[in-house]
Amino acid sequence: MGVSEAGALPDGRSVRQVVLGAAPGPVLTLLDLGATVQSLEVTCGDGLRRNVVLAHASPAEHLEHTDYLGSTVGRYANRIAAGRFVLDGVEVVVGTNDRGNSLHGGPDGFDRRLWEIAKHSGTEARFTLVSPDGDQGFPGTLRADARFAVDGSDVRLDLTATTDAPTVVNLTSHAYFNLDGPGSGTIDDHELTVEADRYTPVDGTGIPLGAHAPVAGTPLDFRTPARLGTAIRSGHEQVAQARGVDHNYVLRGSGLRSVAVLTSRRTGTKLELLTDRPGLQVYTGNFLDGSSPSAAGGRHRQGDGIALEPQLFPDTPNRPEFGSAVLRPGETYRASLVWRFG
Ligand code: BGC
Repeated sequence: MGVSEAGALPDGRSVRQVVLGAAPGPVLTLLDLGATVQSLEVTCGDGLRRNVVLAHASPAEHLEHTDYLGSTVGRYANRIAAGRFVLDGVEVVVGTNDRGNSLHGGPDGFDRRLWEIAKHSGTEARFTLVSPDGDQGFPGTLRADARFAVDGSDVRLDLTATTDAPTVVNLTSHAYFNLDGPGSGTIDDHELTVEADRYTPVDGTGIPLGAHAPVAGTPLDFRTPARLGTAIRSGHEQVAQARGVDHNYVLRGSGLRSVAVLTSRRTGTKLELLTDRPGLQVYTGNFLDGSSPSAAGGRHRQGDGIALEPQLFPDTPNRPEFGSAVLRPGETYRASLVWRFG
C-alpha cells in the first residue's frame, strides 16, 4: 500500500493519502493535508466493518471550514486568550481566529498545511512539518513530527517537536468519532467515561474562568458511563453556553494510561483512549451546522461526532498554575495517544 493522490487544493497543489493496516484490524487513511485522519475503518461489535470518523468531502472543503475534522492541530491546540502571552518576559502576540482568541494555532494552523510524508510502510506513516519562526506569531522554527501506527486493534499517534528558540507547543488530533459511522445520526446515544474528577469551567468564548471545578453534581460528570445526549441537552449553564460539551477534563494519573471509553450499544462498538497528556478536551461537535459536506455523503450536523482531544489545559501560556507549555531549544516535545478498538 503506497501513497496515492487524494485530490487537489484550489491552488493546484496535490493532496496525497496513505493507507495503513488491514482487515480485520483498523484500516487508517491519512492525508498529508493537516496530517488528517480521513477514514478509520474498524470491525464493529456487530461484526460489520465501518468507518468511524467524520471527514470532509474534498481537500477544498477541508480548507473551507474551521471544524478541524480529523486534523493534527497546532502549534497550539485549544485557546490562548486574546492571542497574547508572556514568554521569558516578552509579550508574544499570535493570530486570533475565534471570538478574539487564538484557537488551534491561529488562522493558518497546522490543520491547513501540507505535511511531508517522510516515511511510510503498510502499518506506519510519519508526517513532518516545518513551521517557520514567526508562523502565526509564534517564535522559533518548530519541526513537528506526527507518526501514526496501526498495531493489532490499536491505532497510535506519537507527536514530537523541536524548536530553535523558546516557544509554546500543544499538539493533538482533532478526530471526531461516531462509532455507528458518519451519517448514522448523532452521538447522543453513545456512552462516555472519562477518568477525571475535575474539569475547567470556561467563559462564553471558551477561556478558563479560573480554577478547575468538580464534575460531581454536574451533567459533565463522566466518571461512570453516561449517555452523551443527556449532558448535551441539559440546561446547565456551562453546557448551554457551549451548545453542548466543549470542556477540558483534568485527567487522573500520569504517563500513558487509559483515560476515556466511548461506546455505542447500537453497533456494540467500543473505543478506548489512552494518552500521556494531563487534559482532555471533549467536544461534541456543537458548531457543526450543516455547512460542510461529509465524505460519507450528506452534511455534518450538530452532534454528528465527538472529538476527544488529549492536550494541555486551555490557555496554559497565561496560566502558570496549569503547568508549562514552553519548549526550549535542545528539548523534545512528546505527546502520545492510542485509539484501542474492542
Ligand atoms: C474546540 C471548540 C471548537 C472546535 C472547532 C474544539 O476543539 O474546543 O470550541 O469550536 O474545536 O472545531
